[in-house]
Amino acid sequence: MANRVRVGIAGTGSYLPERVVPNSEFEKTLDTSDEWIVQRTGIRERRFAAPDQATSDLSVIAAERALKQAGIAASELDLIVVGTLTPDFLLPSTACLIQDRLGAKNAAAFDCNAACTGFITALHTGEAFVAAGRAKRVLVIGAETLSRFVDMHDRTSCILFGDGAGATVLMPWEDCKQGEILDTRMGADGSGYEFIHMRGGGSRLPATAQTVAAGEHAIRLKGREVFRFAVTYMSDLIADLTKGYPKEELGLIVPHQVNRRIIDAALERLGMDDSKVIVNIQHYANTSAATVPIALDEAIHAGRLEKGKLCVLVAFGAGLTWGGTLLRW
Ligand code: UT7
Repeated sequence: MANRVRVGIAGTGSYLPERVVPNSEFEKTLDTSDEWIVQRTGIRERRFAAPDQATSDLSVIAAERALKQAGIAASELDLIVVGTLTPDFLLPSTACLIQDRLGAKNAAAFDCNAACTGFITALHTGEAFVAAGRAKRVLVIGAETLSRFVDMHDRTSCILFGDGAGATVLMPWEDCKQGEILDTRMGADGSGYEFIHMRGGGSRLPATAQTVAAGEHAIRLKGREVFRFAVTYMSDLIADLTKGYPKEELGLIVPHQVNRRIIDAALERLGMDDSKVIVNIQHYANTSAATVPIALDEAIHAGRLEKGKLCVLVAFGAGLTWGGTLLRW
């Protein structure tokens, strides 16, 4: 595109709530075991938000850290985009609550719901605004309090999820000279909408005493179907985004933390080992839209992203949706 502004990631930040919930807590109430959960998912523990913490509370802390690292004030932001499937309220958006709490008085704000692809979708939205010259400072957040939306009696889903938030600040690459977004991919296949869904509480099935009693407000998933889709899309997106680049230029892959076995199967399909992949699912489980920005922030702080190397972000989830980003750090 002519006159496209080059876009970079100027700062990142993340926040995990303090309460650590080990697998052993589920053994007390469910027919499950630490051994099953570790073997089938790689998860050992996750974080759950405190009763007075909602998605915007986790987001504000992550955002303040990202703004600090980017060296800008909240008042300099033009736009806030939040990827979440667990907003504080159905109305208004969580982005508006964050805008108020940060004092980002010059920023427009909205949420986007692409489930586990939420952060990548928000990132590509923010990137498009900066690339088109419509915004200069964009805060992009992926944040969830999934512990509020799982059925703690359903062993096939409740053990999988955790709470957390990650944030990034986008600006013209000329202003930050790091993390240039080179390429993006996004897609959807709504025919798979029933694979992961929450039936109750929307216009199709408004909340009633019956929907609550029937557990319609919790996340339900067809794990095996998602597993197959996830392995295929994770490996295809990585291969597609890195095509044409020499192998040694790839510095890091930041995959959606959905299941250790899914990550391993995707790497096997690509003929790669895990030396260039960040995995933290053992500590935080699946935090949906927050997994990628949390892992990216951790990788940067751990010094795993070398300047000049390529970095691939990749996620997929309910919808079905998928997305990938190629960065040069
Ligand atoms: O980000 C998108 C959202 N995430 C997902 O959609 C998750 C993707 N899928 C997965 O990660 C895996 O499919 C799971 C971890 C959900 C399940 O692993 P699996 O290897 O696909 O197991 P399965 O569903 O084939 O179940 C195997 C057995 C079943 O028992 P039977 O039918 O063989 O007797 C399940 O009932 O394991 C049983 N099972 C459990 N056992 C102990 C299911 N959950 C549990 C549990 N503890 N928590």
